[in-house]
Amino acid sequence: MAKIALLHGPNLNLLGTRETHIYGSVTIADIGARVAAAAPGHEVRPFQSNHEGALIDYIQEARTWAQGLLINPGAFTHYSYALRDAIAAVKLPAVEVHLSNIHAREEFRHKSVIAPVCVGQICGFGWRSYLLGLRALLDHLQDQS
Ligand code: DQA
Repeated sequence: MAKIALLHGPNLNLLGTRETHIYGSVTIADIGARVAAAAPGHEVRPFQSNHEGALIDYIQEARTWAQGLLINPGAFTHYSYALRDAIAAVKLPAVEVHLSNIHAREEFRHKSVIAPVCVGQICGFGWRSYLLGLRALLDHLQDQS
């Protein structure tokens, strides 16, 4: 049984009403439920914050209980070296996910400062990016064990 920290960054609490033509109409609660349902036998602990420090605190704390991180860092993806350093510091395998295809959007979204400290990145599949990321993370953990 693996314990997975599911992290959502800023503005993702507004999913369901926020720019639905880009992010879809699924809420953050729906995503948490769907990820948990897709991980029978595992434990998924969701956390959302609009604050960089709160996400960093959660990642640091996850070091004591989690086996992996599934993270949508929101806009922090593109510039938060602090979040990147936190992921690198805890040495937990992380998978970065995005609802939208960040590479097909504005240029500032093309770069992720988080991806280099992750096992990999999945984007562009709407809420299903989270399911694909979960699968990839669980398979990675299985491979490592
Ligand atoms: C996002 C993409 C980011 O560029 C954006 O700032 C978000 C959502 C996504 O899931 O597509 O907040 O992470």
